[in-house]
Amino acid sequence: MNIKDKVIVVTGASSGLGLSLSKAFAARGAKLALVDIDETRLHEAAKLCREIGGSAQIYCANVADESAVEQVYSDVAAEFGRLDGTINNAGITRDGLLVKAKDGKVIKKMALSDWQSVIDVDLTGVFLCGREAAATMIELGCPGVIINISSISRAGNIGQTNYSAAKAGVAAMTVTWGKELARYGIRVGAIAPGFANTPMVADMSSNILEKAKAGIPLKRLAEPDEIAHTAIYMFENDYFTARVVEVDGGLRL
Ligand SMILES: NC(=O)c1ccc[n+]([C@@H]2O[C@H](COP(=O)([O-])OP(=O)(O)OC[C@H]3O[C@@H](n4cnc5c(N)ncnc54)[C@H](O)[C@@H]3O)[C@@H](O)[C@H]2O)c1
Repeated sequence: MNIKDKVIVVTGASSGLGLSLSKAFAARGAKLALVDIDETRLHEAAKLCREIGGSAQIYCANVADESAVEQVYSDVAAEFGRLDGTINNAGITRDGLLVKAKDGKVIKKMALSDWQSVIDVDLTGVFLCGREAAATMIELGCPGVIINISSISRAGNIGQTNYSAAKAGVAAMTVTWGKELARYGIRVGAIAPGFANTPMVADMSSNILEKAKAGIPLKRLAEPDEIAHTAIYMFENDYFTARVVEVDGGLRL
């Protein structure tokens, strides 16, 4: 699919990978609907997208809120009259061990709230946006592309029970939707990045980050543009669907 003039929703668009993805599609002339909970940064992201050749509208919404997501997609349908793509990128982490023990005594457990908030945004948010994107594309008669952002952590990563479960779910939904939606001309892909150079990773302790980098065969973090490059490939290659592409510098957890 040629990206020029295509209407594409990007969630979590105001920072990190979402901003890079938005800029990559804007540079190819896409009409973007940028979604995030951070309204101030959304305005800045839209300005950047316009400066490099795309058009951009902003939608301040929480991807975990069903009625807010339904509203975004119905507004996009009303304002643009079509929908060609959705990139389900918004995500958060709330890392911690399942249980932490010292001298045979459990001193900490992963809080249910930390489990739930990650599942709400990283799994339910992708479900809701993917569902509304598919429904909108079908009703508007637009064959489109849905791209989900999973993670290398989908394989299971220490300290990330919640995040690993959500990202494994995202990978499974990708294959399911690819099979279910092909009949409507909708293709679905997921990207499973390793460690990328974004604010989410900047929050990690430098000690853990250095250890992580040492284990990456390419010995560096991914640049956000390198993840966006994979999304462009998924969009443009009409034979790609129902698969998860790992972009992790060769790292295996
Ligand atoms: N950075 C990495 O190394 C890495 C690796 C693998 C996967 N990922 C995934 O890539 C995606 C982007 O990560 P990032 O590193 O750019 O993170 P980031 O923290 O820089 O950006 C996340 C964006 O999502 C927005 N957001 C958070 N909760 C939201 C909600 N409920 N509704 C709408 N928007 C919301 C934030 O405001 C922010 O703009 C996430 O899904 C993350 O899990 C990142």
